[in-house]
Amino acid sequence: MRSFREIKLHYNFTVEDEKRLVSLKILMDEHADEAMDALHSWILQTKQAAAFFTDELRKKHIFGAQKIWFADLFSGSYDNKYYEKLIRIGQRHMRVSVDAHYMNRSVNIIRNFCINILSSQIEDADERARLLISIEKILDINLDIITSSYIEEELRTYSPAYRVKNALISFSERFSQSMNLVLILALIGLTLGVVGLFVYDVRNLVTGNLEHGIISALGSMLILWVMIELMNTEIAHLKGGKFHISVFIGVALVTIIRETMIATLKHEKPETIYYLIAAILVIGLVYWMVKKTEEKG
Ligand code: HEM
Repeated sequence: MRSFREIKLHYNFTVEDEKRLVSLKILMDEHADEAMDALHSWILQTKQAAAFFTDELRKKHIFGAQKIWFADLFSGSYDNKYYEKLIRIGQRHMRVSVDAHYMNRSVNIIRNFCINILSSQIEDADERARLLISIEKILDINLDIITSSYIEEELRTYSPAYRVKNALISFSERFSQSMNLVLILALIGLTLGVVGLFVYDVRNLVTGNLEHGIISALGSMLILWVMIELMNTEIAHLKGGKFHISVFIGVALVTIIRETMIATLKHEKPETIYYLIAAILVIGLVYWMVKKTEEKG
């Protein structure tokens, strides 16, 4: 299964699309019952589809879940949790043998419904076209993920080779998740350590040399700032965002800047200072190059 980030990238699903979908939330919430009526009347009129809903309790539960799915299309929160929810829909459908065709037709009904709502409620033709493209993208992404997870679930059930491959992948995924946990705990520990360093520097500022104290405290504050940036990057990565290696290079850069500031104050040998300045130049150049590449991608 492709990652959610890759899928969004392939559909060119941008922050602008997210904003447009959120802007439709109130309008679509108002019409959610009509959308569900359109979907459910088709399901109940189609003999094979209706056969899944003979039990009233089950029908109520699943129809309710579909309404939540519809509302979530305009929630603006399209993170890994959202992705996993879609995967589960495909898996559940596969387990009870809901033909993928029914899902395709259901999304077609919702798509037609949304087009009608936009046509009647949005006057500006350009704005309407932009909104429609965003709706098309999110519906296609939904269908793509649900169908792919359906096919994967089918393969998992029937192919022994796929089962072995899948067991390996899920083991690696679990391992990588636990490593992420170790990483986040280490980052918390290190950030607390930097807070300690900052407090220590501030104490020195009060008790010792003022000039030295201010520079050291400034240096550790700089490191604390990048540590926070580092944690934010890791959190964004865990939520399915892009990984920014530049933040790690940033940590190295500010650490050496701090060292240089302290070395200058301590009147270290000139060679040491030259060595530190050369290191800042090299890391600074690498930082700039990586940042440029990240901005392009
Ligand atoms: C836009 C279309 C659809 C969406 C968003 C959707 C969503 C869902 C969700 C979220 C669940 C899980 C409910 C839960 O237990 O929490 C579910 C289960 C189910 N859906 Fe759909 N569904 C759609 C279309 C259909 C259609 C057309 C059929 C039948 C023809 C169908 C049949 C079922 C059945 C039988 C289950 C229960 C599976 C089980 O017992 O594990 N769904 N669906």
